[in-house]
Amino acid sequence: MNKEVYVLKIGGSVLTEKGKERRARKNVIKRISKEIALAAHTSKKNNLILVHGAGSYGHPQARVYLESHNAKDALVTHESVKELNGIVLSSMMELGLKAMPIHPLSAVVSKGLKIKYKINEQIELALRAGIIPVLHGDVILDEKEGFRVLSGDQLVVYAAKEFNASKVGVGTDVDGVLSEKGAVIREIMPADIDKMSIKGSQHVDVTGGMKEKVFLLARLASESNIPSILFNASKESNVYKFLTDDENLFGTLIHAQFQRRDVK
Ligand SMILES: Nc1ncnc2c1ncn2[C@@H]1O[C@H](COP(=O)(O)OP(=O)(O)OP(=O)(O)O)[C@@H](O)[C@H]1O
Ligand SMILES: [Mg+2]
Repeated sequence: MNKEVYVLKIGGSVLTEKGKERRARKNVIKRISKEIALAAHTSKKNNLILVHGAGSYGHPQARVYLESHNAKDALVTHESVKELNGIVLSSMMELGLKAMPIHPLSAVVSKGLKIKYKINEQIELALRAGIIPVLHGDVILDEKEGFRVLSGDQLVVYAAKEFNASKVGVGTDVDGVLSEKGAVIREIMPADIDKMSIKGSQHVDVTGGMKEKVFLLARLASESNIPSILFNASKESNVYKFLTDDENLFGTLIHAQFQRRDVK
């Protein structure tokens, strides 16, 4: 694929109220859709892979499954995250964006220690056709366990590696990675994370919250040399700034291991 690909995740902490069950922030979803539409218009680029988290449409439901191991509870989780995905898609389409859902349960499986993603061609053809593929955190079939949870953060890493992303952004409801004193850590080198103490999430979160997110992104930086930025997508204009390469986007930059010439 010779297109310059951007991977953006909007966290469930932004799109939903994580303290409640199945509560979407429709006005926030609309605002973010508008920023994506405006950025597409400004930058004239059709190169975005969008991932969204599950928030209150996935974490509480997945927790029920992880306790019961009853397939029905996994399928309830899937239906629920699909509902959030539908809300996101409708909002994007209403603003004239061409977007299509990719549901991990239908084409991603877990075998042994490996996750097999059979969605490359769908993503590639969508991008070529100027369509934004919209992926989301989901439950997927597992060879041994029945089902397991696949986080939006894992999908970000997969998509970034597979499409050699030139930009990776992860939006949550906080300004970036916070130190124990609550200050935003502006830069992280992959090697630093062993020394850092980061908590998970203050809400029900079955995928490790901020701690696992930073760990995955640091590994993306060290193993694939792909940097990323964590920023607050609850704040107006930040998604637009990310997509239009505005240098004033405030957040935490996770540096690549080596300097990349092709990175913005
Ligand atoms: N050191 C830290 N720095 C920043 N945020 C932290 C830290 N420790 C814990 N958090 C919590 O992590 C949360 C973000 O992670 P969380 O997984 O809840 O959101 P998300 O990934 O956007 O949601 P989803 O998993 O549904 O996509 C923040 O709301 C914050 O409260
Ligand atoms: Mg999370």
